[in-house]
Amino acid sequence: RLLIIDFGSQVTQLIARRLRELNVYCEIHPFNTVDDAFLDAFAPKAIILSGGPASVVNADAPRPPSSVFERNVPVLGICYGQQLMMDMLGGKVEGGKISGGGGTAEFGRAYVTPAVEKSDLLMGWFATDREQVWMSHGDHVSAIAPGFEVLGTSPHAPFAITADQSRNFYAVQFHPEVHHTPNGLKFFENFIRIAGFSGDWTMNAYREEAIEKIRATVGDSHVICGLSGGVDSSVAAALIHEAVGDQLTCVFVDHGLLRKNEAEEVVTMFRDNMNLKVIYADERELFLGELEGQSDPETKRKIIGRLFIDVFQKYANQIDDAKFLAQGTLYPDVIESVSFSGGPSVTIKSHHNVGGLPEKMGLKLVEPLRELFKDEVRVLGRELGLPPSFIGRHPFPGPGLAIRCPGEITRAKLDILREADAVYIDQIRKHGLYDDIWQAFVAILPVRTVGVMGDGRTYDFACALRAVTSVDGMTADYYPFSHEFLGETATRIINEVPGINRVTYDITSKPPGTIEWE
Ligand code: XMP
Repeated sequence: RLLIIDFGSQVTQLIARRLRELNVYCEIHPFNTVDDAFLDAFAPKAIILSGGPASVVNADAPRPPSSVFERNVPVLGICYGQQLMMDMLGGKVEGGKISGGGGTAEFGRAYVTPAVEKSDLLMGWFATDREQVWMSHGDHVSAIAPGFEVLGTSPHAPFAITADQSRNFYAVQFHPEVHHTPNGLKFFENFIRIAGFSGDWTMNAYREEAIEKIRATVGDSHVICGLSGGVDSSVAAALIHEAVGDQLTCVFVDHGLLRKNEAEEVVTMFRDNMNLKVIYADERELFLGELEGQSDPETKRKIIGRLFIDVFQKYANQIDDAKFLAQGTLYPDVIESVSFSGGPSVTIKSHHNVGGLPEKMGLKLVEPLRELFKDEVRVLGRELGLPPSFIGRHPFPGPGLAIRCPGEITRAKLDILREADAVYIDQIRKHGLYDDIWQAFVAILPVRTVGVMGDGRTYDFACALRAVTSVDGMTADYYPFSHEFLGETATRIINEVPGINRVTYDITSKPPGTIEWE
């Protein structure tokens, strides 16, 4: 297995992701946990030193133990990792003068050209005579260490790619792990081939490792898990159940804001088909009672968030010996919470989650998906036997239909919304469009409009259809349905759903809109 020593780069996890795409098992460990004893126990077959925000010019800069270079295994240093290698092996690094002109700091796209005829590291890498890479560094190497040679250069980085091929040490200035180094995967493929990996690791192996880790963490204690029906919490629950069986209890809170048949589908699947212990918490009256008369979006979100925590706590308190709370936190949540904590970002919406619960209840967290990306979670879910239709479901927000019912929430409006949404999703599935769309739903508008049906006048609600494409929910575009599809769907909704007499299609992208209406 391969060890990635993390020096705090925002993109360290992407290194792991690229290696896993190449079916190589790797683990990321922060530099301050890696010492000689750790290295002996881990016995890495290769080591990657990540980038990071520090400067090796400073005496207190984070460093790996010098024995990483004495283990007789290939080492790849990326950005800060490159500078560390040069500094520790006898080269020279200078601080970049970012301000004041004449600086050597470099951020963004650059093009590397080969400096040697042939090398194992760059084999097949250059599609043309130059290759696009992504640079992001303040400091730079001014003299390479003895034994190293230059394999590639860029206009501003004479030591873009360097190597001591006799010892299998490689050091690069750019970030091969990011998307903006389009051919980065090939680069890693060459490195792991040099390191002798066969590339036979699979998600099944990840599952086995994760199960061992969960068992070791949890011991004989009990774990509780808030099951939302979303992919992340579902996969986390299924994985933990496989690890500790009946030591896991799931709580499914029905806040009266779920889609049609949702509670039944989720509870049946987990309780009856997968044999998990599931508490069905019917708290519809509580939530809908408190939401009555509220129409401000943030007030609604805050009420739901607060009640959710109260309710969860109430049920969790009934479970003996509960010491752990399971969460389906994914890697993108981890980066966001790190890079934005204390940052200048503005709260657009108070997102609903069970944050704050663990401290309040004295629970420790189990987050077995923390290292995975969404598409990897789906693969793992399939490995664990969750039905594909369930794994491919569109995201559904914690506050549920409340944020698709702008203005005042009433039970009558929620009932109409549930029916209209079911017809819309049925249409999308029938036309084979479900998997092309990131998320689709109906919002019921706080407007009634006049219509004519049969020979009579109607005065009913208008609704808006929403469907977007997106890769991560951060930006989105509306889905270009055909006019035929839109017309047919509008007719079906108006005919099949009493209470709606007008249908509109929301064609706002994000930004400037958000995906949900509130
Ligand atoms: P917006 O509306 O902010 O939504 O563009 C982006 C994505 O996040 C989902 N969403 C939420 N998910 N709790 C959640 O778990 C929330 O409070 C919440 N609000 C929005 C939304 O459905 C979309 O996928």
